[in-house]
Amino acid sequence: LSKRQPIVAIDGPAGAGKSTVARAVAQSLGLLYLDTGAMYRALTWLVLKLGISVNDEPGVTEIASTCKIELRMSDDPQTGVRVWIDGEECTQEIRSLEVTSHVSAIAAQKAVRSELIKQQRLWGEKGGLVAEGRDIGTHVFPNAELKIFLTASVEERARRRRADLQNQGGLELSLEKMQQDLLERDWKDSNRDIAPLRKAPDAIEIYTDGLTIAQVTELITNLYWEKTKH
Ligand code: DC
Repeated sequence: LSKRQPIVAIDGPAGAGKSTVARAVAQSLGLLYLDTGAMYRALTWLVLKLGISVNDEPGVTEIASTCKIELRMSDDPQTGVRVWIDGEECTQEIRSLEVTSHVSAIAAQKAVRSELIKQQRLWGEKGGLVAEGRDIGTHVFPNAELKIFLTASVEERARRRRADLQNQGGLELSLEKMQQDLLERDWKDSNRDIAPLRKAPDAIEIYTDGLTIAQVTELITNLYWEKTKH
């Protein structure tokens, strides 16, 4: 019986730096990178594009169970993953404010979650990946070798989000508005009935205010070597 390769689970609230850090950790350890938020975002983008209400559960379920989502690591570190749904690339579109403001409503639906989690577990069957999201350590891969819960103050998270949007040439939003949006999304993601955002009891919490991406990445890779050496 071949033993599966290790899995690193990274969870945390919106804007804590999960994507950038998870990608860097995956590269540094030579593991695959799975951005599960991108899957919920791609589905949201398709639902909106088809003119279906995000609250129309049967309609959304039908799309979730038939659509094909593809993720590929981009060569450009700014981009993270490139995303296709039903053959159409939506890498940039899924980061729009419109998708961002509707994604929590889609991610709260039971049928959506079971469909996307099925796909995430298929990805993780052989292990050897860094998976990032809200419920990875608690629900998707409860046996992950290393679980990280990444947090930061809401002020810091809003500053990072705004810098990201500015880099992408996006809208100028005030820091107050960004903070409000982040808190609202965190509240929805933490208070939904199914697999809400939670720190797994065995996850290691890293508070990233004042730390650089390189420092957080090094902390996590060191923890990985500690956890997996036998
Ligand atoms: O990490 P992100 O901002 O790209 O995630 C987008 C949304 O998807 C987030 O607000 C909640 C949802 N999500 C989730 O419910 N479970 C995950 N494993 C990942 C994301």
